[in-house]
Amino acid sequence: VHEPWAVAWDRALYGPGGFYRRSGAPGRHFRTAPVAAGDLLGAALAGLAREAGCGAVVDVGAGGGELLAGVRAADPGLRLTGVDVAPRPAGLDQAIAWGAEPVARAGPVLLVGWELLDAQPCEVLEADADGALHQVLVDPTGQERPGPAATAGQLRWADRWWPGPWSPGDRVEVGTRRDDLWRHLVDRVVGTEGLALAVDYDHCLGDRPAQGSLAGFRSGRRTSPVPDGDHDVTAHVALDAVASHLPGSVRVEQAGALRRLGVTAPRPDPALAGTEPAAYLAALQRASRAGELLDRGALGGFGWLLTPRGATAAGAVARLLAPS
Ligand SMILES: C[S@@+](CC[C@H](N)C(=O)[O-])C[C@H]1O[C@@H](n2cnc3c(N)ncnc32)[C@H](O)[C@@H]1O
Repeated sequence: VHEPWAVAWDRALYGPGGFYRRSGAPGRHFRTAPVAAGDLLGAALAGLAREAGCGAVVDVGAGGGELLAGVRAADPGLRLTGVDVAPRPAGLDQAIAWGAEPVARAGPVLLVGWELLDAQPCEVLEADADGALHQVLVDPTGQERPGPAATAGQLRWADRWWPGPWSPGDRVEVGTRRDDLWRHLVDRVVGTEGLALAVDYDHCLGDRPAQGSLAGFRSGRRTSPVPDGDHDVTAHVALDAVASHLPGSVRVEQAGALRRLGVTAPRPDPALAGTEPAAYLAALQRASRAGELLDRGALGGFGWLLTPRGATAAGAVARLLAPS
């Protein structure tokens, strides 16, 4: 049975038995920056939280909890909460709270959504021979067929954020659900004081992928998108559309932001290999993981969308943006 992409995608990831209902799915199926280097990111974000005047970090879409574990190791004084539709990861430090919904805040919070938004379903539209957009329907094996004309709401979003003219076969991934989720979380979790950080593969107006970016992942491999519950389904995020609902937001590239937050990748002195081989190896591994985070062709190309609320957080963001 064929359904609109957003319906099939939602059920495959979040329905009963869905891909993300199972514990540890992100770490098992793909390599995110928190999975690759939670310790380095955790230290950087702990520093950012403190600079922004936040005594708490709430990670929504916390997955396996790797990022929060890294924050905890770097700064045990911060109050930490993971929020995910998946169960609490086994072995997560008991000092880290976990739940399916963010709880009421007490004081300024750093809200993090790391690869949260790319996992929110989009409506997928495709241009027909006349360049008119229609909905794309899909079955659980990933077979597609053309559906009804795009709705007025879908066309409004497309005209503003992914405008035509569209050539036959061009696609639009309508990001309304991402925009709404992040705006809701920032208002609820950060409120009037604190900082929000959404991190994702992104694209901006004028630079959208004409054929879209819908993809699947399974067991470490990129696949075609199959909404069967055994594959992740993901599409890059129109972060400029998300930002438009949150005045004062700025986008920076991960590599630059992490450098400003003290992540560096110096290779250890080769002389250490002879005297302390274990320490040399550990330093080499650390340098290679940091290098991955900073490499614009690898994980360093992610977009960071920062939304400060209040003067202290605004100051922290301004320092992050200042030329070094
Ligand atoms: C691509 S994974 C990223 C996991 C982790 N942040 C990382 O980078 O390794 C997306 C995560 O977001 C979670 N998620 C998606 N929508 C959510 C929502 N509305 N509330 C809480 N968690 C959500 C999924 O269950 C999944 O663990």
